Amino acid sequence: MSDKYVINTMIYHINNTTSTNDEARGENYQHMDVIWSEHQTSGRGQRGHSWHSVEGENLTFSVVLHPTFLPIVEQFLLSEVVALALVDAMAEYGIECRIKWTNDIYAEDSKLVGVLIEHSLSGDTLARTIVGIGLNVNQREFPADLPNPTSMALRCGREFDREEVLRGFMLNLQQWYDILASGDKQLVEHAYISRMYHLGEEHSYMLPSGEVIRARIRGVKPSGELRLEHADGTVSEYAFKEIEFVLPHKQAAKKE
Ligand code: BTN
Repeated sequence: MSDKYVINTMIYHINNTTSTNDEARGENYQHMDVIWSEHQTSGRGQRGHSWHSVEGENLTFSVVLHPTFLPIVEQFLLSEVVALALVDAMAEYGIECRIKWTNDIYAEDSKLVGVLIEHSLSGDTLARTIVGIGLNVNQREFPADLPNPTSMALRCGREFDREEVLRGFMLNLQQWYDILASGDKQLVEHAYISRMYHLGEEHSYMLPSGEVIRARIRGVKPSGELRLEHADGTVSEYAFKEIEFVLPHKQAAKKE
């Protein structure tokens, strides 16, 4: 991405809140405003999980967007835009990442960033979207019960200026958002698919019944469903709650 791109984003840096996604609901916040809190009493993750982050070490923030041009059925494009901006922002620090569907950001087999996106709708289009991001920056020790966390500091062996990381991400977000707003959906979709974690590789996935299947990612539908090819060559599509990655460390634990 061009470094000539300049944005004027407002960053509201606060000490404490329940969740920045709650705080960002405030009507006073505008498109592309950022609410960054050092501490969250009820930081939320995906699938009903909470989000762990040590105060003063990471980035836990939400971005307010007004994507009124985007039909509800195409809302997954916003997840793609956010994931792409995170991958590009990390690449600027030499951290190569992949996108674990739907929008976890992984460095090798460890989770570096979690994203929780919440939409409000108006008629057939989106009205306001809150993009909540937990980016592990300088934290080096994590609770043992977290499956596979990592941080920028663990990847690179040095500390980072968190505001600089945040501004770098916002620049990338603005650029990918502009591509989407200009109507180039295919560019966004292709870029997202090409950066997917385990794209085309045989891997284990768990169904809600607990059954584990082996399959290969063949892409993502514009509406967000994961396309998986089974061993017999058939392809099925799965919505978010219909399939889960079996992470490498869980597979290893099973074999023991
Ligand atoms: C995930 O489970 O991977 C998503 C984690 C999202 C965490 C971020 S931290 C900032 C924002 N506020 C929240 O309560 N959650 C998101």
